[in-house]
Amino acid sequence: MIKLNQVTKVYGNIKALDNVSVEINAGEMALVVGASGAGKSTLMKLLYQEEKPDSGQIIIGNIDVSSLSHTKVPYLRRRMGIIFQDFKLLPNKSAFENVAYALRGLGAEEYEIQKRVSGALKLVGLIDRAFNLPSELSGGEQQRVGIARAIVQGPPLVIADEPTGNLDPSTSFDIFSLLEKIAQRGTTILISTHNQDLVKRFGKRVITLDKGRIIADTGSVNISGFSYQ
Ligand SMILES: Nc1ncnc2c1ncn2[C@@H]1O[C@H](COP(=O)(O)OP(=O)(O)O)[C@@H](O)[C@H]1O
Ligand SMILES: [Mg+2]
Repeated sequence: MIKLNQVTKVYGNIKALDNVSVEINAGEMALVVGASGAGKSTLMKLLYQEEKPDSGQIIIGNIDVSSLSHTKVPYLRRRMGIIFQDFKLLPNKSAFENVAYALRGLGAEEYEIQKRVSGALKLVGLIDRAFNLPSELSGGEQQRVGIARAIVQGPPLVIADEPTGNLDPSTSFDIFSLLEKIAQRGTTILISTHNQDLVKRFGKRVITLDKGRIIADTGSVNISGFSYQ
């Protein structure tokens, strides 16, 4: 689903990512951990095309996004859902309209919007709050809206950069459980987190970054047909 091949991203004299190679399979829920400044957000931004690598190759699905022209970026973005630490909801729009926003932008039919948005809000357990503004929702509820918005178009890939960074431990657990449920439906999910407690409790593949390099990866690796943990 995702393949990074010797990817380097430099800011000035800082190597935010330093020769990173990693593969994530379709349907996998993988966690990216590491101290602040380790390169987690840079990795995410390269995947959702907010940044371009200085060298190396990034393949998502069958598309080499490292050489994708700018005009194709919106098309690729539609195939992935992005979830942010600070939710990034439109403050003057209801939960429903936040989730509907991209569909409306694409000119979807009203019945289609109603069906998809209601389905996404039901999945995240927020159908009862559909017409509340973000300011009327708790942090955890706002992040559920963010998740509904990310999945409303049924993307094969969801990228979440510190989705629980602003949430308390029990809400964070609920958000991770929800992401796990979405992964179990066949969506590939890559989540960056600081939260070691969640990392331990969920027992998923953990990719550890340090100063822009992968220093550990609990995922299985295939070398010449042999697989080990
Ligand atoms: N736009 C930028 N300009 C300059 N340096 C940046 C920029 N974005 C990130 N960096 C640097 O790259 C490194 C990795 O940052 P980041 O990917 O945000 O780490 P993390 O998300 O793990 O905290 C840090 O040293 C950070 O200061
Ligand atoms: Mg970050």
